[in-house]
Amino acid sequence: MSERKKTTIPMLFEKVGNGIPITWLTGYDFPTGYLQEQAGIDMILVGDSLGMTMLGYESTLPVTMEDMIRHTQAVRRGAPNVFLVGDMPYMSYQPSVETAIRNAGRFMAEAACDAIKLEGGIEMTDRVRGIVNSGIPAIGHLGLTPQSISALGGYKVQGKGALQAKKIIDAAKALEKAGTFMILLEMVPDRVCKLITERAENCIIMSLGSGPEAHGQLLIFHDMFGLYPRFKPRMAKVFGNAGEVILNGVKQYVEEVNNNTFPQPENWFGIKDDEYEELLSMLD
Ligand code: KIV
Repeated sequence: MSERKKTTIPMLFEKVGNGIPITWLTGYDFPTGYLQEQAGIDMILVGDSLGMTMLGYESTLPVTMEDMIRHTQAVRRGAPNVFLVGDMPYMSYQPSVETAIRNAGRFMAEAACDAIKLEGGIEMTDRVRGIVNSGIPAIGHLGLTPQSISALGGYKVQGKGALQAKKIIDAAKALEKAGTFMILLEMVPDRVCKLITERAENCIIMSLGSGPEAHGQLLIFHDMFGLYPRFKPRMAKVFGNAGEVILNGVKQYVEEVNNNTFPQPENWFGIKDDEYEELLSMLD
């Protein structure tokens, strides 16, 4: 389906070494996985944000491992060479190290992922160690962590105060020491993100709304194409308004069916005259 080489962790580190930013988007299904691979994206995150973007829940908390595996498999079928990351859903890793390893393993075995991502800081280092020691590459996620939205008090920038920023910097170091090869910083101030990137030794730092001073950028696919109707986060530039295109297309379809201008002969299938005559003769 695509000629590109499969993206690997050494290739991602090589990009960082050469000062080339890593491109990362969320993706949740076969067609958008396919389009992203064709467009040359480095990485796809099958985020548990699919609970909101694809399933219409108010938060990511109701998402199950079954939901995640089904969508991740679909993306992999569309994007065989992209570096594919499975996002560990709520309560798939929090209960214990063993639960975390088992569910991380499912992403690798059942959905052909290249890595998993989990939210949380110092309190998650034992989960990270267990997963990494099982041979599964792990990505950390700090700053705004949507699974803790109630504890954080809403979708707000994290690390605006010096104390909270220091906590995020310490957590990034702890996750790196525990074995994450990459950390995502979501909605962290740009200068805090820069400090973390400068301090990272063997860890790639990615930004989602955390400024340009990381090793690469992540965006939510539905935000960048106007496909999420409930709100538009400030960090999401709209690169193309697919939502508007679809809305106008559906309105036009309704109109054309109503005024009998759709379908036209090129949109249906006929039967040859002789076959039709024979058919009529068979009917009483
Ligand atoms: O689920 C997701 O898409 C995420 C992003 C918000 C980073 O975790």
